Amino acid sequence: MTGKFITFEGPEGSGKSTQIKRLAEKLDAQSVKVVCTREPGGTATGEAIRNILQHDAVDEPLCDRAELLLFTASRAQLMEGVILPALGRGEWVLCDRFIDSTIAYQGYARGMLIDTLDRINNFAINSRKPDLTLLLDLDIERGFERLEERYADGKGSADRFEREARDFHHRVRDGYHQLAQREPARFRVINSDQPIEDVSCAIWNVVKEVLL
Ligand SMILES: Nc1ncnc2c1ncn2[C@@H]1O[C@H](COP(=O)(O)OP(=O)(O)OP(=O)(O)O)[C@@H](O)[C@H]1O
Ligand SMILES: [Mg+2]
Repeated sequence: MTGKFITFEGPEGSGKSTQIKRLAEKLDAQSVKVVCTREPGGTATGEAIRNILQHDAVDEPLCDRAELLLFTASRAQLMEGVILPALGRGEWVLCDRFIDSTIAYQGYARGMLIDTLDRINNFAINSRKPDLTLLLDLDIERGFERLEERYADGKGSADRFEREARDFHHRVRDGYHQLAQREPARFRVINSDQPIEDVSCAIWNVVKEVLL
């Protein structure tokens, strides 16, 4: 039996990392074997790429096409090295961001051709799409307020994308909505403007309905 593949998407600070942890705990309590991973990253190569993409590890502006290919290189490595093997062992994979981040950020927000991105994405993942994509939907300002609280607690600092202008992030959020409409069978939109526990409950109901 092959496992299930769930991706978490949504704008900055919408609660993806928080909710992946919660869902993993709930699945674990059901004796489901779970692998949690993230993009970019999740492999040694991917984490090295993440450093370049999020934290300006090299002192040079990254052109849009190089940015796109670095994201998708990290994705290909993660797919081959982590996701497909785990699914093959019958384990569930929860991934923090995946193909839809590319379409939302590089496509809708940066303006690259969606059709080109779809083809590069498909190549990177060998056409194995997620079984379920949870779009954590949250007002952009609310997300940034949450991140400011997180940084005030000394956890990290703003990355390259978080420093983009607000209208960039509005295009990201609108792009995600268009993606959810384009593939309604794969996407579920979760209202993330609720207490952590309520969001977690909404996610659990969807997972039970769709995959368990
Ligand atoms: N439902 C919620 N209500 C209030 N605060 C929340 C909620 N969910 C998460 N938070 C807090 O908001 C901050 C951002 O959450 P989290 O890191 O999970 O978001 P994220 O989507 O992973 O962000 P990023 O895009 O930066 O990876 C954290 O400090 C987290 O504790
Ligand atoms: Mg996160």
